[in-house]
Amino acid sequence: MESTPRKKIIFSGIQPSGHLTLGNYIGALKNWLQLQYEYRCCFAVVDLHSLTVRQDPKELRRRCLEFLVQYMACGIDPKENLLFFQSHVHTHAELAWILNCFTYMGELGRMTQYKDKSAKHKENINAGLFTYPVLMAADILLYQTDLVPVGGDQKQHLELARDIATRFNHQFGNTFKVPEPYIPKVGARIMSLQEPTKKMSKSDENPNGYIAILDNPDTIMKKIKRAVTDSGNEIKYKEGKDGINNLLTIYSSLTEQPIQQIEEKFEGKGYGEFKVAVAEVIIESLKPVQARYQDLMNNKDYIEQVYTSSAEKALSISNRTLSKVYKKVGFISKSV
Ligand code: TYM
Repeated sequence: MESTPRKKIIFSGIQPSGHLTLGNYIGALKNWLQLQYEYRCCFAVVDLHSLTVRQDPKELRRRCLEFLVQYMACGIDPKENLLFFQSHVHTHAELAWILNCFTYMGELGRMTQYKDKSAKHKENINAGLFTYPVLMAADILLYQTDLVPVGGDQKQHLELARDIATRFNHQFGNTFKVPEPYIPKVGARIMSLQEPTKKMSKSDENPNGYIAILDNPDTIMKKIKRAVTDSGNEIKYKEGKDGINNLLTIYSSLTEQPIQQIEEKFEGKGYGEFKVAVAEVIIESLKPVQARYQDLMNNKDYIEQVYTSSAEKALSISNRTLSKVYKKVGFISKSV
């Protein structure tokens, strides 16, 4: 009898800060949905990461749950995938410590997200902000992950995770799988609606810059109508037309239509008409997600069951890697 090959492994996560946005949906979640039955997937709400900027504890607790429920509302199937909070699986923080000792200051200092965030939060440049990519490497390497579906902004962090894995393997023999990134061809970087040269960010102080997954249809329509474009009138993907390029990208990734086809469809039409069409596509895409979200929120016992049993399984899988690492670096094995 032929044995079925073992499914490959995916790990990905989102930080529970601000609001889950259309950028997160198009850059990451949409690919999670597409890959969730083909791979064994671990999707975490990476709450430890969110402490690198100041959080209100009550708000953070509420947001963590809302993020996990939004994963499920988007269509992540908890029967087939593990959905958990990073802080429930202690191996993440433990492996991060070990990997910190195999990562260089110079490597971390080159991370653009560190540079951006430390410029933005000058009053709180904490050590966690600096070593954050090491925790991300631990998240991934613990599960012997093959593939990491993320947006383009995480590429540099992923390269570092690969470098750390390779370095460790080189010194101690094969320990970690070296993971591959999976970045969408269209929509790897959805831009802010107000400043289309910057990425759409879930912690943007101006809510008009992003579409939240849970924004109601009126809000979505208003935000898209207010989106910054240019003084021209041509719906064409072109250099210098950042706002229109962004709207075309959103439309294309949500409808799976190539950009050229959308340009043809809107040839001779004005920005106003195009914006309404983009807003409608977003509203339609998010409608089922929002309906499922409300249902799931009314069933907190079920949600608790999902994240508790997922965390137990995640702990058992990740412990195998951690024990291997502890042994390789020279720690005495626990007798119980
Ligand atoms: P985070 O929380 O900033 O973003 C979550 C995911 O959404 C993608 N993303 C975007 N994609 C397209 N356009 C945008 N404007 C946009 N904004 C965000 C991100 O690329 C990401 O895939 N460090 C990570 C979280 C993390 C992680 C991990 C990811 C921690 N450990 C292990 C993968 C594997 C982060 O801050 O993502």
